Amino acid sequence: MFSILENCMLVPNVHMMTVYAPDVAKSALPGQFAIFRPEEEGERIPLTLADWNAEEGTITVVYLNVGRSTAKLASLKAEQSLPTVVGPLGNPLEIERFGAVLCVGGCYGIGSIYPIARALKEAGNTVISVLEARSSFLLYWQEKLNAVSDRLVYLTRDGTRGKRGHIGSLAEIIRTLPMRIERVILNGCNYLMMRGSQETLPLKIKTIVTLNTLMIDGTGMCGVCRVTVNSQTKFACVDGPHFDGHQVDWAEVTQRRKAYLQEEIIPLRTTRPQ
Ligand code: FES
Repeated sequence: MFSILENCMLVPNVHMMTVYAPDVAKSALPGQFAIFRPEEEGERIPLTLADWNAEEGTITVVYLNVGRSTAKLASLKAEQSLPTVVGPLGNPLEIERFGAVLCVGGCYGIGSIYPIARALKEAGNTVISVLEARSSFLLYWQEKLNAVSDRLVYLTRDGTRGKRGHIGSLAEIIRTLPMRIERVILNGCNYLMMRGSQETLPLKIKTIVTLNTLMIDGTGMCGVCRVTVNSQTKFACVDGPHFDGHQVDWAEVTQRRKAYLQEEIIPLRTTRPQ
């Protein structure tokens, strides 16, 4: 069993959980994920590691309360425990000295982009972090990201913080920067990663996305996380989760992500007050 040290809502619907999982913490690398299961018979939820502390043996994830299983996860309190935390899984993100790198995070991706920005900064890159949200009250971890970034850019749909716009404004933001961006890393929902990749394609900037497909085993055996990248079949858990955003078959990713949407939503309709 894995003890929960903290489980709180950061901003509406976006939660943060810190768990004692020393074996995961001691070998975690930026861009890897862990599979969480909130109850013995429950769904296995892959969540990108948003932070970890090898000395204290803790890992932290940021997740969206979006369906039955994540609602169950969000309902757990500190000092309760989880039956399953498996990780670290997936390949770490390639971290090198690229030059200037744009790290874009939206929703739960603001959390998962943090260790990536930190590692890129430590590797000597100029890091520009872009935080995207519908409104300023949905932003979080600004101080943490500011500490590992050379510049922080806010992008809100209602214009309450930073530039007014959405991920479709990414090319415009890049054009206004005083340096050549060598690489873009996109973390967040599929739409953010797909739309962001469309923005960087005409600019010819290498763009890496972290796919958040459905998963069961997370070790390449079940095939649930199948994606098509550059016309080749890949498994997000063992071949990824990081792929070239310009080569991902986004229509397929979107379609497969929705496979159990009704099963996720129907129990919430019957258990939550209308
Ligand atoms: Fe089963 Fe990837 S989760 S193959």
